Order: sequence, then structure tokens, then C-alpha cells
Amino acid sequence: MKLFVCWIISYLLCLAGLRKMWSGRYLRSHLSRSLYMNMMSHSQAPYWDGNQQWYFCDTEKLSDCLRPVFIQSYLDHGTQTFLNRSIEKSGWLSIQLYHSFMSSVFSMFMSRTSINGLLGRGSMFVFSPEQFQRLLKIDPEWKSHRLLDLGAGDGEVTKVMSPHFEEIYVTEMSQTMIWQLQKKKYRVLNIDEWQSTGFQYDVISCLNLLDRCHQPVTLLKEMRSVLEPTRGRVILALVLPFHPYVENGGKWEKPSEVMEVTGTVWEEQVNSLADVFHVAGFAVEAVTRLPYLCEGDMYNDYYVLDDAVFVLRPI
Ligand SMILES: C[S@@+](CC[C@H](N)C(=O)[O-])C[C@H]1O[C@@H](n2cnc3c(N)ncnc32)[C@H](O)[C@@H]1O
Ligand SMILES: *[C@@H]1O[C@H](CO)[C@@H](O)[C@H](O)[C@H]1NC(C)=O
Repeated sequence: MKLFVCWIISYLLCLAGLRKMWSGRYLRSHLSRSLYMNMMSHSQAPYWDGNQQWYFCDTEKLSDCLRPVFIQSYLDHGTQTFLNRSIEKSGWLSIQLYHSFMSSVFSMFMSRTSINGLLGRGSMFVFSPEQFQRLLKIDPEWKSHRLLDLGAGDGEVTKVMSPHFEEIYVTEMSQTMIWQLQKKKYRVLNIDEWQSTGFQYDVISCLNLLDRCHQPVTLLKEMRSVLEPTRGRVILALVLPFHPYVENGGKWEKPSEVMEVTGTVWEEQVNSLADVFHVAGFAVEAVTRLPYLCEGDMYNDYYVLDDAVFVLRPI
């Protein structure tokens, strides 16, 4: 017992020491990279002038059918609010120390996603309400019946879409995330149940899930089968470059189904994805480039990944 307490105290002191030395950018990003192998560190980047590239697309490189449907996004008020809040939170030392300590204990037997769900931290941001409306070409008052958010995480992204729907259904793999979703009063469906409830959905969102699930190709087909066949839309986000792997407990596994994505740069992979969607019975109605943001920790103010966001209509 004594040993355990000593260990905790020295651990906390060590972390506090590290936080002090944290002005060195290399150390910060190096350590965070080993903690979050899938997230790039952008803590010190001056986002207010360097952020143009988050949204940049070389439309010359897009295929002829995608060029006319590309939507140029920019850093709007909602995104800035998320960033400010994230920077503020990462500065709360005692909470960050607590999170860091708890995750180092839990990481022995739990996935990072589940730990975040348990601690209620690491919320994500894909789009602001305005960006969502612009993509779907709807106005702020637009209302529809059913939304299905697949792999909804803690439901913070669901919250951006939810004002437009009467009934909100979600799915999740991680049990701690399911608790967060139930707390927010969303109707949680089992991951092998939503395909066969007999419901049709007006909008299905599949945000940052295709590269984190075992059967992305099957998932696309299943979405097509439960989508309202004329006015129904899928909103789909995917982190590029495409690196599929599935979290299982504390381990990373290769997915069992291969989704064929070719090309190296963002635009080429987007072109290739349009073909994948076509095979699954979808046409691309809109596409944009957005930063996929995650709240920071004691090492970084926030994390950024590169998202392609598509609106798909059934064909
Ligand atoms: C990267 S997170 C995305 C969360 C949220 N949609 C967002 O965009 O921020 C992927 C989530 O999908 C969940 N997941 C993985 N496989 C799933 C499946 N087959 N069905 C439902 N959720 C799944 C994971 O537990 C994880 O919370
Ligand atoms: C975010 O923080 C910056 C710098 O502190 C400030 O100028 C800006 O008004 C804030 N924006 C929002 C939307 O809160």
C-alpha cells in the first residue's frame, strides 16, 4: 500500500515536472505522438493564420464529377469556439493530471475510446451547425423525422445535428460511450440491430467510422438499405490519408474487410472514395475538407486530423 501511494505521488510529481518543461515543442509533440499514435500534434501551431491549409483543396485534381460539388469551408465561429474552449481546458492542470493518471491505469485493459468515454474527455468536433446546414443545403429551421448516427462516440457531434430531427438513433461499440449517449437521451441501437428494425432514416451520419470498423463495405450497403430511398441522405466523414485499423480492448487490429482506396494526396483519395460509394449505390452530392478536431490534454491544446466530408444520395 505504501509503495502504491509513493508510486502515485512520484508519478504526479514527474508529470507536473514535465508540464513545466513543456515549452520545448519537440518534447511535447514527441510524447504526444507516442500517446496518440493516430493523432497529429498541432499544439503550438498558430491556428489563426496557419489554418487556411485545413480547408484547402486543389480542385484541379478532383475528378470531373466532383469538381462542381466541392464546397469550400472555412474556420467559422463554431469551430473557433471549440478551439478556444479546448485550449482553456487543456490548461486546467489538476484535471489534466487526473485524466493522465487515470488513463495510464486503465490503458492496461481498455481501449482509448472507452477510457475517454469513462472520463468524459476528448470530445470531438467535425462541423459547426452552419457547416452542417450548408453541406445538406438546408436552412436553420429545417426539420425531418429520423436521424441515425452510426459510431456516435460520446454524442457531442450528434448534438450538432440533433435540432433538425424528431427522433435520434445512435449506435456505438464502446460500452462507456453508450453510457454517455444514454445520458444525452439518444436511442441507442445495437450494432447488429439497426439494419433490421424496419425503420427508414431521413439522414444517416457515419462520421469517422469507416476506417475504425471491421466491415466498412458491408456497412455502406447496409446504410443504403435503411436510407429513405428518394430524399434520404448520408453524411459521411473519413480521415485521410486512409489508415484503417480497429480498436479492440487496448490493441489495434487490421479490419476484416478491405475497402479499396487508391491515391496518395487528399484529392486523389477523395476521387477514389467516390468510386467506392458508387459501387455501394451512392452518388456524391457535396464534398468538403474540414479539420477533425479533438480536445487536448496536458501535452497539447488540441489535436487535428484531416477529414473529407461527403453528402451522399442514393442512386
Ligand atoms: C473515431 S470515433 C468517431 C466518433 C464520432 N462519430 C465522431 O465523428 O467524432 C469511432 C467510433 O466508432 C465506434 N465503432 C467502431 N466500430 C463500430 C461499429 N461497428 N458500430 C458502431 N460503432 C463502432 C468506436 O467505438 C468509436 O467510438
Ligand atoms: C477565441 O480566442 C481568441 C483569442 O483569445 C479571441 O480573439 C476570439 O474572440 C475568441 N473567439 C471565440 C469565438 O470565442
